[in-house]
Amino acid sequence: AKSGYDHYMKKEIHEQPRAIRQCLRGRIAEPDGGITLEGLADLEPEGMVQFVACGTSSNAARYGARLLREHGIPTQTFLASEYTADAVPVDEETLVVGVTQSGETADTMRALREANGAGATTLALTNTVGSSAARECDHVCYIRAGPEIGVAATKTFVSQQVALALFTGALVGDSDPAFLEGLRELPELVQTVLDSSRAREVADAYVDADAYFFIGREYTAPVAFEGALKMKEITYKHAEGFAAGELKHGPLALVTENTPVFALLTAGSRLEKTLGNVKEVQTRGAPVIAVTDVPEEVGRYADHVLEIPSTHPQLTPILANVQLQLVSYWVANRLGRSIDKPRNLAKSVTVE
Ligand code: F6R
Repeated sequence: AKSGYDHYMKKEIHEQPRAIRQCLRGRIAEPDGGITLEGLADLEPEGMVQFVACGTSSNAARYGARLLREHGIPTQTFLASEYTADAVPVDEETLVVGVTQSGETADTMRALREANGAGATTLALTNTVGSSAARECDHVCYIRAGPEIGVAATKTFVSQQVALALFTGALVGDSDPAFLEGLRELPELVQTVLDSSRAREVADAYVDADAYFFIGREYTAPVAFEGALKMKEITYKHAEGFAAGELKHGPLALVTENTPVFALLTAGSRLEKTLGNVKEVQTRGAPVIAVTDVPEEVGRYADHVLEIPSTHPQLTPILANVQLQLVSYWVANRLGRSIDKPRNLAKSVTVE
């Protein structure tokens, strides 16, 4: 069933080009580029779009929220466990989007039920046909990633990002041709990352690190959080993701020569500012691994470069994430961890 791969996680990382194709199939009209998502045709949110999600899905939600805000649609993002319909304004104008791979996560389900109770319109963005979330919500949009066996979410995260990009396009109506072109070429670009990644070398170089930090800004901040979550889950090592600008407000005290920092330095996410943060950690002796689409611009500031192809700036986070998935995978592999079934974790969390 692992088709020659050592782990389901590795197989699922490599299935991402296909997962993206499945998510896109039939949803971008030729030649005009109009985006249609089933079930959303009559959905025209008048008010706030609120996202509720847990874990990896909350990182996808943060990415989606940023896309919507950039198009002038007001959003709020909540960890589902922190969401209570009485503490935030929820009314008939509110659209509450539950992002949940399994469609069964108890915290997310409770949040969606509360939102429905408060009269909001609800949408499930899920991988699982007929799941509790799909049944609870007024609307449902499937991410179509196919079954994911590894406990660590990989291809489903990418599919959520792509579905949220489509969702944004569908709500906004007139999509930027360069963005649509970027979406169409995304499967190939992810394949390029998979074929050329030097993540294994980086993992080998830092397998003994005390901790791993990930910094990103704007579109890449959610990927920094996700990179750290994946690293924690499957390697059991200390990892944290930060919005790059927050480093100097506390986390910098943790930085030493034995805490490699993965810096997401992509064009379009105010990379000159993040480079300033890179200098702060280098002064403390930390090795820096740049994940970047502009290696000639930032390579000289980094100890290692994990290169990604250039594409639309709003889509580079999707490519950067693939590099980080591979780094976590190879660190966990070197440490001999139970990659597909990390200790203490379950694929679907059905208790609050
Ligand atoms: C991490 C992971 C979890 C899930 C979270 C939400 O790799 O898989 O953090 O993302 O438990 O699960 P869903 O998306 O099923 O609601």
